Formats: sequence, C-alpha cells, structure tokens
Amino acid sequence: MRFFITADIHHSIQEKFLPLSQKLAQHCLEQAENGDVLLLAGDNACGDLKGLKELLELFDSFPGPRALVPGNHDLWSHPDKGVGSDILYRESIPKICAQAGFHYLDQSPLKVGEPQELIGIAGCYGGFDFSLADLTQLNSEDKEIVLEGWRTGLLDNLFWNDYRFTWNSETKTWDHAQFSKQNTQRLTEHLNQLESDERVKSIVCITHTAAVLDQAIGHPNGAQRPDFQRAWFRGILGSKRLGSAIQKMEKVALHVCGHTHYPKESTDPSNRHWVNIGCDYPRKRWLIYEPGEGYRFSDWIQ
Ligand SMILES: [Fe+2]
Ligand SMILES: [Fe+2]
Repeated sequence: MRFFITADIHHSIQEKFLPLSQKLAQHCLEQAENGDVLLLAGDNACGDLKGLKELLELFDSFPGPRALVPGNHDLWSHPDKGVGSDILYRESIPKICAQAGFHYLDQSPLKVGEPQELIGIAGCYGGFDFSLADLTQLNSEDKEIVLEGWRTGLLDNLFWNDYRFTWNSETKTWDHAQFSKQNTQRLTEHLNQLESDERVKSIVCITHTAAVLDQAIGHPNGAQRPDFQRAWFRGILGSKRLGSAIQKMEKVALHVCGHTHYPKESTDPSNRHWVNIGCDYPRKRWLIYEPGEGYRFSDWIQ
C-alpha cells in the first residue's frame, strides 16, 4: 500500500495552470494500484466549489481510498457572498467530498489496509494562532508592531488575505486563533481514537498549515526580510500547539503539510517524519509513502 500525498494544487486559480492539475493527476493515476491511498492536504481549489468539484473528478478512477483536508484558500469567500467560510467548512466542502467519493478528514479519521494491520489517517485544516512566531529576539517597539500585525493582518505594506476573505456568515468576522484551537482539539480526538485501536499499527497525519517550526521556515525570500517581518510571517503559517498535540501521539509516523509553498523535511529523534511538500502555483509533486518503508518524492511536475 502506498500513499500519494500532495497539497496546494490551487486548481482553478488561473486558467493557465489548469493543465498542470491534469498532469499531476495523470502522473498519480498511471502509477496507482488497487488499495493505494490518495491524500490532498489543502488549498485544493481557490474558494470556488465548482473548481473543487472539477479537481476531485480528475481522481475518479483512483483505485483506492481518497481523503482530503481544506486549506485557507478553500475557505475563502468574497465578502459580497452570502455564504461565509463557516458554511464552506461545515457543509459545502463536505458535501462535494461525499459526492466525489472523498473522505473529509476534518470530520472523522479513516482506517485503511488489512483488518489486523490497519493504518490510521487523521487530518484537518490546522490553522494559525501566532504560536510559531518567535518574538524573543525583537525589541519592544518591533514586538508591538508585530502583535498589532497579528491583530489586523497588516504589517507595513504586507497584508494577509485570510483576514479579508475568511469570515463567519453570522458575525462577519473570524477568530483565527479560536479556529486553530478547535481544529487542534478535534484532531486530538481523532488521533486518540486511532491510538487506542490496537489494530491500528501506525498513523499518517496531514494538515494544511505547518505544525512545527521547521515546516514553516527556510523560504529564501524570508532571509532578506527584517526580523519583525519574519516573526509575523511565521506566526501566520501554522501552529506550534497543533504540532505539540501531534507529537504526543506515539503512532504518528509521518506528518505532511503544505501552505508555505516551500519544501522542507526533517526527521525527529523518534524517527517521525515532518514534511512540507512545497508545491507552488507553477510546480507540483507527489510525496509517495509506503508504511514501514519510508517516503520519496516524484519529480517536480511543471
Ligand atoms: Fe497554497
Ligand atoms: Fe495555504
């Protein structure tokens, strides 16, 4: 059994990238065998349900279980629309997943493989709560600027679009830290279910956003930024609390995220792999994981 995992397909973001999604899907479908597993780790489309539906249909002939989590872009809704991110997250996206034969991991975990040797799969969007931001190196003035940037989504001329396009249908606002906390709590419940099932031998976990600092750093553009900008960016790329929750689980062998569009990988002392796939708009790839054997990447597909 192999897992084909990718993130940040951003299907339908621009007409010129549509053939790339098809090429990516084709690459996987040509290799996949019965019982293989397909996982999409968010930013699958771009806040448009039609684009998401089209993308999932590309994998109609995948010969095994398929599952996904949404990314921040999947939850975007233009402020003029009546349907906010809460409805997309809770109702619209799960509905499209069910129609397309995809398991929506934010609602429940999944078990795959032979009955006595199951592999558990858990995942969620994740979210950001500023816990990855390291403010210790900043002077008090810069610290204030960064914290204000966290409250508003605005830092100098930089603006984080989630503050504009993620909103609740009733309140018209969005509490990113609270959403991240809820995601972490639910994922913990799902992971606990899998941990306590003796038949589950190991767990694959996916989130859209970063769970450990190593998955969120390293972008070459970041090195040129002043410290306070770098701290702000790290804060909105993921959640250390999410990572701590995953680290407590003994059976998690692999955690995969996307979101930063920059590839990173590390293995911790307990031999657990933390990977950021690093797909960007013009180039994509697959992480191919075989439980007990390890993982490799496909070539970049451009
Ligand atoms: Fe993305
Ligand atoms: Fe993202």
